Amino acid sequence: MKDVVTAALHVKSNAHAPYSKYKVGAAVETEDGTIVSGCNVESSSYGLTACAERVALHSAIAQGYKKFKTLVIATRNGAAPCGACRQIIWELCGDIPITLIDENGKQVIMNSSDLLPHPFDNQSLTE
Ligand code: THU
Repeated sequence: MKDVVTAALHVKSNAHAPYSKYKVGAAVETEDGTIVSGCNVESSSYGLTACAERVALHSAIAQGYKKFKTLVIATRNGAAPCGACRQIIWELCGDIPITLIDENGKQVIMNSSDLLPHPFDNQSLTE
């Protein structure tokens, strides 16, 4: 199994999801092959919950990485990322393949441009 897939599956077990019980693991592979992972971290105020994808990507940015090759998201049912995460994935990663993997190991690959067609981004601000 690819290291980035293994990382996403592993970090999912670290999810702090006492309210939804819905654990999410995300792992991003940087340009140089480094893997940075993140899980969802829920808050009792609900709205302060951090999604796994953003935890992983923000952590990678904080570690100094700027270019990303691929992202893997592990959930029990292989769900696609929420709208807020689609925006951040697009802005930080551009058009990259995203692998969704469920608890049975079933993988579905899609591109970030398919997940967020007609995006608002940096280009929208400068046109
Ligand atoms: N969640 C993520 O981590 N990523 C998504 O893209 C969708 C939702 C988390 C947030 C919350 O902890 C739980 O899944 C249920 O919404």
